[in-house]
Amino acid sequence: MKVLVTGGAGFIGSHILDKLLRENCQVVVIDNLSTGRRENVPSAAKLLEMDIACDDLTELFKTELFDYVIHLAAQTSVPASLNDPEHDCRINILGSVKVLDAARKFGVKRVVFSSSAAVYGDAAAVPIKEDSVLRPSSFYGLSKLTVEQYLRLYKELFDLDYAILRYANVYGERQGDNGEGGVISIFARRILAGQSLSIFGDGGQTRDFVYVSDVADANFLALTAHGSGLTANISTATEISINNLIEVMTDIAEKKVEKRYSVAREGDIYRSSLANDVALETLGWRPETRLSSGLLNTLQAHRS
Ligand SMILES: NC(=O)c1ccc[n+]([C@@H]2O[C@H](COP(=O)([O-])OP(=O)(O)OC[C@H]3O[C@@H](n4cnc5c(N)ncnc54)[C@H](O)[C@@H]3O)[C@@H](O)[C@H]2O)c1
Repeated sequence: MKVLVTGGAGFIGSHILDKLLRENCQVVVIDNLSTGRRENVPSAAKLLEMDIACDDLTELFKTELFDYVIHLAAQTSVPASLNDPEHDCRINILGSVKVLDAARKFGVKRVVFSSSAAVYGDAAAVPIKEDSVLRPSSFYGLSKLTVEQYLRLYKELFDLDYAILRYANVYGERQGDNGEGGVISIFARRILAGQSLSIFGDGGQTRDFVYVSDVADANFLALTAHGSGLTANISTATEISINNLIEVMTDIAEKKVEKRYSVAREGDIYRSSLANDVALETLGWRPETRLSSGLLNTLQAHRS
């Protein structure tokens, strides 16, 4: 099958490419390389340097006739969405609408969309289920939620099928410092260099860290899973505080580092953990990688 991966030169996208190629898919990537890297795209995939918000995608969809689209290309930073909501809106909403519109015009069977825990906002009860209240506390979260609603309507009005995957905080090799799960990558680099760590808030804030190759597996399963119009959290359904995370990482790295606390960032969620029963029921997916092994792999990648 032929799959278009938008944002495939990025962190999560590059692991999805590895998975798709292992499964013998034909893979095309569009990426403007704003945060992604050319080296992240294996030579077996075709990379087109395009901007989903600016370039006309219709010719590409018309000539390539993709079976499936995995849509990841996005502005991924919560603080950047607060500083420049217009840019966030242009890439994440307008860019996504262009992808969806081309997909429905040229017979794409399903769009798998990378959404986020940010659609829930600061939820009262964790782990958060898919039918919880959706009340984003950042423009980034709002832009993801808006695209989810576009998907729903594209299905209702034009029969374009979709799967929405709401990721918790993703971590692993090839992650940049920006974006949602970037804290592990920043900590890994600084711990190995023996540098101090900056913590926003009291460090008691929790996150649900899911390993990137598990996320890649979920995307692959979502392409052909039975049922349509699926929405599933992709998470471990556990939470760890930033203070605990630092302890685990410094233990694995066998390093001691100074911690520096500063005020919490606007728009940041305090507790975050997502239930993952729907992913198990609908995709047959569960996270396979323990946090300690994922962190070990990540630290080793930073070391080399
Ligand atoms: N990393 C996480 O923890 C996490 C959590 C929830 C959701 N997500 C979502 O997963 C997706 C992938 O995130 P990531 O962590 O791999 O980030 P990333 O920045 O590594 O990947 C995003 C990719 O999109 C490309 N891109 C950005 N704007 C583009 C545009 N206008 N046109 C074409 N390409 C463009 C970038 O160059 C990059 O390669 C994003 O949609 C993000 O919102 C990530």
